[in-house]
Amino acid sequence: MDGSIGTPVVRRDALAKVTGVAHYAADFPHANTAYAALTLSKVARGRITRLDTASAEAVEGVQMVLTHRSLNEDLGEETFVMKGGHMQSSFLPLTSDEIHYAGQIVSLVIADTQEAAEQAARLVEIDYASESANAALDAPGRKLDPMDKSTIAVGDAEAAFAAAPVKIDATYYTPAQHHNPIELYAASVAWVDGKLHVNLPSQWVMGTRAGLAKVFDIPVDDVVVESPYVGGAFGGKASILPHVVLVAMAARRLGRPVKLVVSREAMFTVGSFRPAAESRVRLAATKDGKLTAVMHDEIGQSAAIDHVSFMGMEATSKMYASPNILMHGATVATDVNTPGFMRAPAEAPSFFGFESAMDELAEQLGIDPIELRIMNEPERDPVSGLPWSSRSLVPCFRRGAEIFGWNRRSPEPGSMIASDGALVGYGCATATYPSAMAPSSARVRIAADGSCHVFCAAHDVGTGAYTVLGQVAADVLGIEDSEIRVEMGHSRHPSGPVSGGSITTGSAGSAVHKAALAVRERLFATVAGDHDRTGMTIADRHVVLPDGSRRAIRDILAGLPGGVIEEHADWKPDDMDEKTMRHGLSGGMAFAGPVGSSHVSFSFGAQFAEVRIDPLLRTIKVARMVGVFACGRIINPRTARSNLSGGMIWGASSALLEETQVDRPRARFANTDLASYHIAANADIGEVVCEMLDEDDPVVNAIGAKAVGEVGIVGMPAAIANAIYHATGKRIRRTPIRIEDIL
Ligand code: MOS
Repeated sequence: MDGSIGTPVVRRDALAKVTGVAHYAADFPHANTAYAALTLSKVARGRITRLDTASAEAVEGVQMVLTHRSLNEDLGEETFVMKGGHMQSSFLPLTSDEIHYAGQIVSLVIADTQEAAEQAARLVEIDYASESANAALDAPGRKLDPMDKSTIAVGDAEAAFAAAPVKIDATYYTPAQHHNPIELYAASVAWVDGKLHVNLPSQWVMGTRAGLAKVFDIPVDDVVVESPYVGGAFGGKASILPHVVLVAMAARRLGRPVKLVVSREAMFTVGSFRPAAESRVRLAATKDGKLTAVMHDEIGQSAAIDHVSFMGMEATSKMYASPNILMHGATVATDVNTPGFMRAPAEAPSFFGFESAMDELAEQLGIDPIELRIMNEPERDPVSGLPWSSRSLVPCFRRGAEIFGWNRRSPEPGSMIASDGALVGYGCATATYPSAMAPSSARVRIAADGSCHVFCAAHDVGTGAYTVLGQVAADVLGIEDSEIRVEMGHSRHPSGPVSGGSITTGSAGSAVHKAALAVRERLFATVAGDHDRTGMTIADRHVVLPDGSRRAIRDILAGLPGGVIEEHADWKPDDMDEKTMRHGLSGGMAFAGPVGSSHVSFSFGAQFAEVRIDPLLRTIKVARMVGVFACGRIINPRTARSNLSGGMIWGASSALLEETQVDRPRARFANTDLASYHIAANADIGEVVCEMLDEDDPVVNAIGAKAVGEVGIVGMPAAIANAIYHATGKRIRRTPIRIEDIL
């Protein structure tokens, strides 16, 4: 056996998922469960003036109608996730008569059946005194709120821009989008002897436990949070959504378990979303294509109830070598639910503009867009001056160009026509995503019966973490991957980080690695007894001694009391202090990187698209996508490819289809269902080719694994927009790009 890391092991949870054995939160059967349904505000701003719950309460089987009148309960202090807490928003519905956004929860109905709860939720009568409201980023008369902390400045970019012979100054817009995982938000809650048991789809059981303990002012040990399977999350399940608190309150008051499954429509407002954003990008260059100024000003949609933003300038400022860099951010408060994390929250919108601008610059310079990027490749981070932990962007472009057949591209827009008359366009763009790390614990146990267990309270949100963490342990312990059981997504396990920010493999994987090494050391020490253990290795279920003799691991364990070796490890990134680690391990948000004290760590990728445009109908088809990525060590090429190509497909969806439309007069999201919120289906996607380069990153973490989960989406919208320009000569600076844009 050559080891498991690097092999395309099939998902450990595949069988459970396809046979229905995998239980999701809404499947969890508490005895005597009552069912909940929500009533949502029809107005975007104002006050409730009249509330009548009599008709709702009269529905047979209704147990309770919670509104702001009946809720009044003292809650512990718990804050917004972006301010160091765990809540998705700092606003908790049902705490006053004020309305802050359309779709705000205004009542929670509990009944013996789902049907009764839903019927009653519709019968709650509410009158509002509504005020004018705005849910759009680009409304006239908007007020910009500058974010001084976001400023990045190197050299004198304004002067360099003014003096440059070649320059681009363009503004790009990306709309609000919503995560639409197949698994709806849900919560099954039961109080048992004063202890709170919560089943919910979560990217962060440890944070949820810590947050709920604070809200209900009970010890963390009295909160149990379970989320073994998650049917898609994408950032939307990374913090405590307000309805979870409301359901838990209702369950406590009722003295009965309560389950809520949030409807697809309500998904748009009871959780978070990707806010709309604008990027003004200014690039200046010498005539031979050397960048002399890189400027990026971003304006992001924020909420009146929470000042929050996700801006990609940390990444765009590091993309290319330039002596002068200047970037600012600002937000616009709108009357919407609090925006939040959504796959590559900052980078995906930012890179649409930034990488479109690079293409515009290449066009103006008459330089091939790949060559332009290669000639401006920075040896070090142009902002901090620190070296990269690894950066293989140029090899990604070279390999991607080869697979894609970039040399077949004739540069002139509109010059490539397929045999069926379709206009053909080739476009490319850079992708990147920070490789941050968080502290994590893990426990590894091997037993004489041949079993090996890995425990960690991180998550497999559909990414393959169950499989990948097992592979890390398998290699250290010299056992077959199939013999390993991995348990995740439960607050009783050793602490794991939020499974967000593409950190799970690197962070939880490093903890598993450390715990497995400790187990291996004990095996070696047991064999060595009083002798020197130097030179021992492990392979094929045996400890191998320096003289080549072998001792079966099972036999070694059988000789131990209990027949078991079990080790717990706490792992932290090198740059992190102990106190921050403790904070992280106790369910706090604690990240290190991507800029450390000695290096800067990002994953990189080169992305390519071929579009075909019908010459008459102007329908846009993404015929091919190619992505080549360098993400450090790839633990499992099958699951990594699945993540990366999923990101690419979402990027295509984002470029051409996805947009949460705003009903401006009513200041509400208009297309709150999957019939009108368009997501790419199979027929929208052509060929997807995804490769990962071997990349040795000796410093990023214990296992050399950089971020995989999000980088795949980042460059795709720009690559497609650039391809559309190449096919048609029309530069579209706004997604989604539609037929009417290229008529
Ligand atoms: Mo990801 S948006 O950090 O779950």
